[in-house]
Amino acid sequence: MTVREILKMGDPRLLRVAEPVTEFDTPAMRALIADMFDTMHAANGAGLAAPQIGVNLQLVIYGFKSNPRYPDAPQVPETVLINPVLTPLSEEMEEAFEGCLSVPGMRGSVPRYTRLRYEGVDQYNQPIKRDVDGFHARVVQHEVDHLLGKLYPMRIKDFSKFGFTEVMFPGLDPNDDD
Ligand code: NI
Repeated sequence: MTVREILKMGDPRLLRVAEPVTEFDTPAMRALIADMFDTMHAANGAGLAAPQIGVNLQLVIYGFKSNPRYPDAPQVPETVLINPVLTPLSEEMEEAFEGCLSVPGMRGSVPRYTRLRYEGVDQYNQPIKRDVDGFHARVVQHEVDHLLGKLYPMRIKDFSKFGFTEVMFPGLDPNDDD
């Protein structure tokens, strides 16, 4: 298991549309998912998408009990989500600040659907279907956007709410370089 390099915004590999996963529970997939968890945990991330480590597959991971990067966020179950499809359950959207391990040191306010259904499969090709709201829904939308070649700054409407974390949120963990 290995902490992999996280690609940063500007790298064209982050702008690709990811390919569906067709192999499950192979040694290569198990190693990839283990590396993604190691990489996410090492960076204190709330989630990570395979394209962020240069692997162009429809595979995201997310979840935490508590996270120093988002101290007020409710917990989200640790999840491996493959070949996801999102369906909003309401037209309602809300703005909240997000960060991204591919956009280190910055935060921006991003509108997201407040309630949605997500469907896909896990690492064993077992179906996942959840109706979620709030921060859980936001994390999934952010991660699945990576599979569409979208980074959160591309979703910002109000650029007066985009800036450096150390300026906008000076109380966040200073050991956290994101
Ligand atoms: Ni991200």
